[in-house]
Amino acid sequence: MGVRLKKPYAYVLLCGVFLAGCVAQDSSPQTLMEKRCSRCHTLDRVYAVKKDREGWRTTVERMAYYASGVIPEKEIPIITDYLATTRGVEKGGETAP
Ligand code: HEC
Repeated sequence: MGVRLKKPYAYVLLCGVFLAGCVAQDSSPQTLMEKRCSRCHTLDRVYAVKKDREGWRTTVERMAYYASGVIPEKEIPIITDYLATTRGVEKGGETAP
């Protein structure tokens, strides 16, 4: 005897919420960055520095290399863009905290 699903709509609802969550997460570069970049160190490490776009690209690529697959290649430009926009500096200027 299996468990009878008395309220199938509840499962449909749950499923919908879950899917909506996934879509929402995928659509936010910030959420993506926070998810990918807090795995090995805290986000403080990310927020501690400012880099130009080129600097962030190199960094994100290096992190993706460390993460060996956890940060898919297609996410590199999304995360780079987010960081270059929110944590960026003029070309050439790299600042420590
Ligand atoms: C697989 C583990 C791992 C992941 C995932 C990871 N990092 Fe790192 N991160 C490290 C290690 C190890 C160091 C220290 C060595 C170094 O700087 O190369 C570091 C150092 C840093 C630094 C300080 C050094 C610098 O270049 O300014 C920044 C900033 C940084 N990470 C940003 C990020 C960002 C942004 C992401 C997400 C795209 C990320 N990390 C994801 C392992 C990781």
